[in-house]
Amino acid sequence: MDNSLNGRKALVTGGASGIGAACARALAARGAKVVVADVDASGAAALADELGGTAWTVDLLDTEALGALSLDCDILINNAGIQKVAPIEEFEPAEFRRILALMLEAPFLLIRAALPHMYANGFGRIINISSVHGLRASAYKSAYVSAKHGLEGLSKVTALEGGERGVTSNCINPGYVRTPLVERQIADQARLHGIPEAEVLAKVMLTESAVKRLVEPEEVASLAAWMASDDAGMVTGASYTMDGGWSAR
Ligand SMILES: NC(=O)c1ccc[n+]([C@@H]2O[C@H](COP(=O)([O-])OP(=O)(O)OC[C@H]3O[C@@H](n4cnc5c(N)ncnc54)[C@H](O)[C@@H]3O)[C@@H](O)[C@H]2O)c1
Repeated sequence: MDNSLNGRKALVTGGASGIGAACARALAARGAKVVVADVDASGAAALADELGGTAWTVDLLDTEALGALSLDCDILINNAGIQKVAPIEEFEPAEFRRILALMLEAPFLLIRAALPHMYANGFGRIINISSVHGLRASAYKSAYVSAKHGLEGLSKVTALEGGERGVTSNCINPGYVRTPLVERQIADQARLHGIPEAEVLAKVMLTESAVKRLVEPEEVASLAAWMASDDAGMVTGASYTMDGGWSAR
């Protein structure tokens, strides 16, 4: 058994589903105590039970409350996210602000809440689940691409500030991953691009990728677990793509 994260406490946001759930499982399998943080109370509780961890029911859009928070985790995975596809001229301003709040402001507030404990211990791992859309743009995703590009900047600043205090900060940049978030997008993409749903994968999602398949959540989780380990101590301020070659173009 891999015990490389024994004794570590991890917090995974959006941990009830998709990539977050896979990360929670991978960290627990390596010995970490995991807090599954999600607005989905029953999903978080079920996974926490399975992993012998703890559930934290939290709406990360309540950024006011996050400002007063203090966290005692050694590993923080900023993962919770949502998607909305619409042309800019039809994009609801409130929806744009919501996506920025959840996917950029909340990660800032959680990092801010976690750093004092990490600095006191001389160890910390911040892992930001960004996207190939943190490095590249796609039409109709103004809020998502803006939030992920912002997260890239936040991650690098965290790396610079934490470098001499044992704290690393990195991004993981997957292409399309097989999760409910992607399944929910297929109908919208079909409508916007004027094609049948069955053609969305080949004609929209995998056009740029050299490897013509979706990423599996477990593949992302395996990279996150390595980034959380002692082996990755010299990896910071980096953005690791797992996009089947999309960003090689
Ligand atoms: N699926 C992909 O193709 C893909 C690709 C690249 C990056 N990502 C990123 O990975 C992350 C996870 O995506 P996923 O595909 O696993 O999505 P998902 O929809 O399967 O899971 C997202 C989780 O976030 C939780 N969440 C949503 N709003 C919340 C809130 N206000 N407060 C607390 N929790 C909230 C949901 O309840 C859900 O459990 C996101 O940041 C996403 O941008 C996904």
